[in-house]
Amino acid sequence: MIVSIFDKFKKLAEARQAMEENHSDFFNIVMDKIISATEAVVNGRPMLLAGTNNYLGLTFNKECIEASCRAVEQEGTGTTGSRMANGTFAGHVALEQELSDFFKKKTTILFSTGYVANLAMLSTIVGPGEVILLDADCHASIYDGCKLGGAEVVRFRHNDTADLEKRLKRLEKRNTNVLIVVEGIYSMMGDQAPLAEIVSLKNKYGAYLIVDEAHSMGVLGENGRGLAEQANVEESVDFIIGTFSKSLGAIGGFCTSNHQELDMIRFASRPYVFTASSASSAIASTRAALQVLRSQPEFRQHLWNNASKLYQRLEELGFSVGPEPSPIIAIRYKDMDEAIAVWNGLLDHGVYVNMVLPPATPDGGVLLRCSLSAAHSSEQIETIGNAFASLTSSQS
Ligand SMILES: Cc1ncc(COP(=O)(O)O)c(C=O)c1O
Repeated sequence: MIVSIFDKFKKLAEARQAMEENHSDFFNIVMDKIISATEAVVNGRPMLLAGTNNYLGLTFNKECIEASCRAVEQEGTGTTGSRMANGTFAGHVALEQELSDFFKKKTTILFSTGYVANLAMLSTIVGPGEVILLDADCHASIYDGCKLGGAEVVRFRHNDTADLEKRLKRLEKRNTNVLIVVEGIYSMMGDQAPLAEIVSLKNKYGAYLIVDEAHSMGVLGENGRGLAEQANVEESVDFIIGTFSKSLGAIGGFCTSNHQELDMIRFASRPYVFTASSASSAIASTRAALQVLRSQPEFRQHLWNNASKLYQRLEELGFSVGPEPSPIIAIRYKDMDEAIAVWNGLLDHGVYVNMVLPPATPDGGVLLRCSLSAAHSSEQIETIGNAFASLTSSQS
């Protein structure tokens, strides 16, 4: 028998073909034309976008676009190098300082994406002989970083502080460095970590704590600094990780901390050293977006109004929504065919949401995931709700 290195993809290829035949090829979504932060032509059809991470709607913000265009004209399309070689431009250094000021931290490091930030931090800050205690629902980039670094990984049940304490107690006897990793808002179900309780456990057992605020920066906290600000525990969080690809509307990632030793990551971390730095256009629009985030809290307020309205509407309609109102509103389905029918029905009504399948989902279920934006008008939120309402006969 002739074996092929592609044999391992056979099952995937079959699943993909079944999707195509079923008109449910959710991995073949092409945004043909981007009209605004909330509208696009998707696979030839005009769509209201209810499945982006554009929380503050800044991708089309005038200041951000102008800053980005200026940067391209003045500095070109790319840096063509690592931060450790020729890829540190004045804009990277300025943005690091601006993020330190915003988060009131001593040190910030930029990475090329949020994925790379997690890869870099989790593979470098702890290693063999040390332990990472991980919320089970953490993002894939956190898991991948753990794998790359070689620390022992212990998962605790999602948002279950009793389970976390049980595991901390066991580790206490081993007298080793322990790093707890959680997210501000969890990307799949939109729920928040019980951060105040997690911080008291971290303090009690002398552990370190990383909070990935990818979905909560710009969304939570009086000043938009995320869950740590909202929970009033900023001083106790050792490392905050974030991304520019969500509320800041660009691409890139960062880690900020009061531990000045964080700077050593620049020399020790392969995902920092061996990749090119972000293009000036992304850095410039991110700097402008950070200014907007700081100076216009009304965007955050409008986002939450939208989120509360749609969450309540979907709950009243009987959809199986996540545990709390959030700009991420996920609807759980046990049955894949039912989820596909609703997803296709929404497209027919001109509404795009994300379809999320295992292994990306918690508990192996299927999710239809809406994520909202401050750029959505009240009418658009109404339209999204109406589209779901028209499909109530096919929901679980
Ligand atoms: C919690 C979390 N961390 C990190 C990332 C990666 O961010 P980026 O898109 O900047 O790579 C994501 C992306 O979805 C995320 O949800």
